[in-house]
Amino acid sequence: MWRKVPAIIITTITPVMTMIDLHCHILPGLDDGARNEEEALAMAETAVKDGITTIVATPHVLDQGYRGARERIAAQVEDFNGKLRAAGIPLLILPGAEVMAAPEVPGYFRAGDLPTLDAAGRYLLLELPFQESPWYLERILFELRVAGVTPVLAHPERYRYLRQSPNLLIPYINNGLLTQINAGSLLGYFGEEVRRAAEIMVTHGMAHLVASDAHRPRGARKPVLSSCRRELTVLAGEEVAKRLLEENPAGVIAGETLQVEEPREYRPAKKGFRRLVAWVSGKNC
Ligand SMILES: [Fe+2]
Repeated sequence: MWRKVPAIIITTITPVMTMIDLHCHILPGLDDGARNEEEALAMAETAVKDGITTIVATPHVLDQGYRGARERIAAQVEDFNGKLRAAGIPLLILPGAEVMAAPEVPGYFRAGDLPTLDAAGRYLLLELPFQESPWYLERILFELRVAGVTPVLAHPERYRYLRQSPNLLIPYINNGLLTQINAGSLLGYFGEEVRRAAEIMVTHGMAHLVASDAHRPRGARKPVLSSCRRELTVLAGEEVAKRLLEENPAGVIAGETLQVEEPREYRPAKKGFRRLVAWVSGKNC
């Protein structure tokens, strides 16, 4: 039988939300992220306060670090999960890595050296050099796909060549690349140009995941996603915010196939129109 629910109960119910942060430098002393255990635990507390329940630890893997990275990081994750339990912090850390793209990466992946974002070995987080697109990029993306793993490109909006020409992503996405936008980029923490590029990628079907890429417990590089959720909702609607922050990250760690929309070409407004918009909004060209 239908019963009227007192208003006070309705206003106190909050939706159950699983927040997964797929990209975070939380493991202590491994890279430029948490510098020690104390800082790593402080990052965990910040994440939990924000509602994050699971973090994929993604230390940088590059140079001489490819060989044996999977076992090394798995051991660190197990150790740190023990520290979290001892400290009473309700957060689960899963093993992952942010792997610097290099010609030898597909070989290391085939040899089982590289940790993926999921236990099934289906999603590999890749980073690129910041200033120039590497000449071997197309080849290694192809080789990784042939090896059965989906490359996930970390923060495309932060690479100069991709933020200046976001449409360069389209053929890669059509060939199976996924992209992960940084929450801080959408909030303007990396500057206006990066923020604008992140917005273009989100609104043109070129973004599939959002994560913190946190390095510190406080400040612009802290592990929080809730403020970005508000930004994403205003920018692209609740459905897209939910997909990028909840559904797709959950699908990735479960090793499921994501349903992604076809990317759309970004067409910059003509110069005269940009001037008009700038004039209307009171900004200089
Ligand atoms: Fe990172």
